[in-house]
Amino acid sequence: MMILVGGEKGGSGKSCLAQNLAVYFARDKNAIVLMVDCDPQRTTSDWIQTRNTDPSLTSINCIQLYGKIRNDLLSLNQHYDYVIVDCGGQDNLALRAAMSVADHVIIPLRPKRRDLKTVPHMEDMLTTCKMVNPKMLASFVITQCPSLPNQAKRIWEAKEVCSSFGINVLKGVTYNRNVYDDSEEQGSSVLEIDPQGKAAVEMIAIAEELMEMKPDNSHEFN
Ligand SMILES: Nc1ncnc2c1ncn2[C@@H]1O[C@H](COP(=O)(O)OP(=O)(O)OP(=O)(O)O)[C@@H](O)[C@H]1O
Ligand SMILES: [Mg+2]
Repeated sequence: MMILVGGEKGGSGKSCLAQNLAVYFARDKNAIVLMVDCDPQRTTSDWIQTRNTDPSLTSINCIQLYGKIRNDLLSLNQHYDYVIVDCGGQDNLALRAAMSVADHVIIPLRPKRRDLKTVPHMEDMLTTCKMVNPKMLASFVITQCPSLPNQAKRIWEAKEVCSSFGINVLKGVTYNRNVYDDSEEQGSSVLEIDPQGKAAVEMIAIAEELMEMKPDNSHEFN
C-alpha cells in the first residue's frame, strides 16, 4: 500500500502527517514501513536519523528519491506493507510520479487563503494523474486548525472550498498543538509522546478514516 502525503504548499504539515502515519503503521499495526523523502531539505530523513538513534522507538527505514521516481516506488512497494512518500512542491516531477502510482494521496492544507489557493492546481494535477492511476484515492485534510470555537467556521469553509472541486475531504482534522512540533524534534511522534493525548486521537482518526476508504472502482464502470 502506497500513501503519498503531498502538495505544493510549504509548511502545510506534509512531513508531520507522513511521519505520524509511519509510526501508526509501524508501531501500532506492526507493519513493515518505508518512508520515502522527496524533499531536498531532508526533513523526514533527519527525523528518521534522530529517531533511529533512540532504541526505545520502533525503527523505520527511509530513503531519498528525486525526480522520475515512478518505477522505484513501484518496486519498493512490493517489499513493504506501507510505503509512505513525503513530497512537496519543490520536486514537481516526483510529486506527479508519486501521484501516478499511490493508492492514497493525502494533501494537507491549513484553513488559510494561501493554502486554499493551491486547491485548483492540485485538483488539476490529481485529475491528470488519475488517468494513469484510476484506483488512486485522493483526499484533502485540514491541518493546524485553530481550536477557538469562534474559528470553527474557518475549518468548515476550508472543507467547503476543497469539496467544491469534487475532491474528498477527510472528516478528521489536526488542530494546532505544540506536541506535533515537540515530538518531531525528538524523532518521535504524537502517538509515542502522549498516546492518550488529543493529537494522538486525531492522528489515529485520520489513519483509520484512510484505511476505511473503499478502493475506487468507479473507473471500471466507465
Ligand atoms: N497540527 C499541527 N499543530 C502544530 N504544529 C504543526 C502541526 N502540523 C505540523 N506542525 C508543525 O508545522 C511545521 C511545518 O510542518 P511540516 O514540516 O510537516 O510541513 P511541510 O508541509 O512538510 O513543510 P515543507 O513544505 O517545508 O516540507 C513543523 O514545525 C511541524 O512540526
Ligand atoms: Mg516537509
